[in-house]
Amino acid sequence: MFTINENYGKLPGSYLFSNIAKKVNAYTAAYPDADIIRLGIGDVTRPLAPSVIKAMHEAVDEMGNAATFHGYGPEQGYDFLKEKIVAYDFAPRGVKLDLDEVFVSDGAKSDCGNIGDILGLDNVVAVCDPVYPVYVDTNAMAGRAGNYGSDERWDRLIYMPCTAENQFTPDLPQGKVPDVIYLCYPNNPTGAMITYEGLKKWVDYANEHGSLILYDSAYVAFISEDKPHSIYEIDGAKKCAIEFRSFSKTAGFTGTRCAYTVVPKELQCGGVSLNALWLRRQTTKFNGVPYIVQKGAAAIYSEQGQKEIRETIDYYRNNAKTIREGLTAAGFTVYGGVNAPYIWMKTPDNMTSWEFFDTLLHKAQVVGTPGSGFGPSGEGYFRLTAFGTYENTVRAIERIKQVF
Ligand code: MLT
Repeated sequence: MFTINENYGKLPGSYLFSNIAKKVNAYTAAYPDADIIRLGIGDVTRPLAPSVIKAMHEAVDEMGNAATFHGYGPEQGYDFLKEKIVAYDFAPRGVKLDLDEVFVSDGAKSDCGNIGDILGLDNVVAVCDPVYPVYVDTNAMAGRAGNYGSDERWDRLIYMPCTAENQFTPDLPQGKVPDVIYLCYPNNPTGAMITYEGLKKWVDYANEHGSLILYDSAYVAFISEDKPHSIYEIDGAKKCAIEFRSFSKTAGFTGTRCAYTVVPKELQCGGVSLNALWLRRQTTKFNGVPYIVQKGAAAIYSEQGQKEIRETIDYYRNNAKTIREGLTAAGFTVYGGVNAPYIWMKTPDNMTSWEFFDTLLHKAQVVGTPGSGFGPSGEGYFRLTAFGTYENTVRAIERIKQVF
């Protein structure tokens, strides 16, 4: 008889956002007329930029003509998109990348999980706490996380607390040296941002100890201060880091699906190139992002495309400001929302994160994400996203103020 991957049996409950969706669905089934405002999952609400739509329409027409039709594309993405990525996302920041260091994919979420395919199962993994649950759950599925205990922690993971005291950037590990370190800046869920010095500390640590940094910068478009946009702005990072980027939050591609991962050729483990391993993995398991979608993604780099996506990002930024200022004025302690689309608030009156979630759902019909869903140090916090409509954002803050 066949066997299954026993690690799945160790996972607690369902994926965080599925869990929340179930609770909200149960509530709407009981109260079908409830006017729910969803500021939970970080899903965008503004439409795709006109330049993107135009490019995709043209690409659709090309697909309908034998002379311009595209079948399988390069698994790692078309050069027309990678050339733009290298020229616009990295060169202006002083980072030089070769086209074959960029791998276009269907999402940073998939890549953050799939990257584990090329890493040993015995690696000790460190995650921030609180953390985007994908890093933890995918390592648990692979067996790298060990067992999940009653303290709501995996016994083989190193949890690096991110609290207000350390500005939500983890301190370097003091005990065991992690082999693999996940960092995400702008941070999900705390909305914090790391400084150049802060990031340099991690790059130096990784190079000194032979650790690999998996750097998720899916929210880079929201940086508004003088902060690193890519880990490769830090000397030595190409020797120790993989970076994940996405068009989801930058250009509203959550439903369209396009992202990319940078694996520098300098990044080696015992003389083996991780770039070569990732290429082998992708060419074997992935057939590339649709031509039409890559054409749409490339369109954001035109002058008009840049202007359009900037407008949308400014719209969400204004939501973030509205939430931050509204909640602060109402007496809440609030973090994030300056360089990120997430606002990380302290729950009031010693309420647990899930108690606050339930209260907001039932009394204000506002959905957010309980901090404890992101890890033990998230207890006592709550995440709101700036990706709603402006009108709903304003209404949500008014309702929260009324309840508290
Ligand atoms: C979140 O809400 O944390 C994000 O939407 C998750 C994601 O991008 O996969």
